[in-house]
Amino acid sequence: MQKPEIKAAVESILKGKHIVLGITGGIAAYKSVTLLRLLVKAGAEVQVVITPAGKEFITPVTLSSLSGKPVVSEFFTANTGEWHSHVDLGLWADLMVIAPATASTIGKMANGIADNMLVTTYLSAKEHVMIAPAMDLDMMAHPSTVRNLATLESYGVEIIEPAAGELASHLMGKGRMEEPENIFSRIERFFMKQCDMLGKKVAITAGPTYEKLDPVRFIGNYSSGKMGFALAEECAARGAEVTLVCGPVSLQTANPNIHRIDVESAEEMLEASREPFANADMGIFAAAVADYRPESRAESKLKREGVEEMSLRLVKNPDIAATLASVKREGQLFVGFALETDNAHANALGKLRKKNLDMVVLNSLQDKGAGFGTDTNKVTILRKDGTERSFPLKSKREVAADIIAEILS
Ligand code: C5P
Repeated sequence: MQKPEIKAAVESILKGKHIVLGITGGIAAYKSVTLLRLLVKAGAEVQVVITPAGKEFITPVTLSSLSGKPVVSEFFTANTGEWHSHVDLGLWADLMVIAPATASTIGKMANGIADNMLVTTYLSAKEHVMIAPAMDLDMMAHPSTVRNLATLESYGVEIIEPAAGELASHLMGKGRMEEPENIFSRIERFFMKQCDMLGKKVAITAGPTYEKLDPVRFIGNYSSGKMGFALAEECAARGAEVTLVCGPVSLQTANPNIHRIDVESAEEMLEASREPFANADMGIFAAAVADYRPESRAESKLKREGVEEMSLRLVKNPDIAATLASVKREGQLFVGFALETDNAHANALGKLRKKNLDMVVLNSLQDKGAGFGTDTNKVTILRKDGTERSFPLKSKREVAADIIAEILS
């Protein structure tokens, strides 16, 4: 029996997923409408890219009405000159599915003939690509098709084998595009395989905290929240249910499985974090929490007239990581960050022990491209068992994937 939270996660596996649906010029294009409907109904965002020949079989109006997005076909919009970026599409998509894929498109993909928007998008694609061939039985059996499919397979393209049956030519044989329901199941399975955190609960703190001096001023720091947000997106993409407690940041979350709680001060962050961290399988403290806050907060704006010098009395903030990790349950795994300027290694190890953490992610401000505000980071992960692993400079999303892989291992 599946646990209810896992069942719900499986049912919503396609929610918010970005899919490029490529349609080429074959009779089976009419079946792509059913596939598109199934994907949209399951909550996926679908961008249809159709070849010029595809438009002879199915109209862009039908497809854009169902997907809720203008269909992309040409490199430019004729009347406005607007350029459609295949590179951006490649970066946006989590998966590309070409159904139906004709012999012509398969040949172009295998040989890099980028004379239309769909093949260009394929050549820029960083995501996984699936194709559902559809053609007459003799075309399917032709050595050039067989060779092109083998080439595409060697490039990592997943081939959804066509079924045998009656073809558009009324001949019987292999070449019928797989049924849309079965293609849909393959898509679900693809996303399921990536979900190695299905049913797991993760709590994350991110961003800076602001400690108010008066209604218009605060003590803060340069944290952008990017590392914590990248971790939240990575965990959610792998099927986890994420609670992200964040200080003031100008970032948006993309995945609907991220429950975001916005706070301002360290004390608010601690209160908002108690329940999510108590219920989590994994807790990650990525926030740059202010160590001190003003002892008192002025109710109205502090004035400078007649004040030549001002001293601020600060009191210590709670250590959120140490507080929550001190009541860590059996089976819970808590990870902290250490941003150091000197004595990095010894300081990080000290934090790991003092705060009762299982892992500390160390980044040094001395490394170019690491730390606050950047889109990249360079980290060393130290574990409680004394082992450690250093990684090269990577994007924060890639660093997030490395950290999660370390946690899961
Ligand atoms: O002691 P230090 O601030 O360097 O420790 C960093 C780690 O502790 C980070 O994981 C940070 O999120 C967490 N921390 C916290 N509450 C504080 C200070 C740090 O959760 N008040």
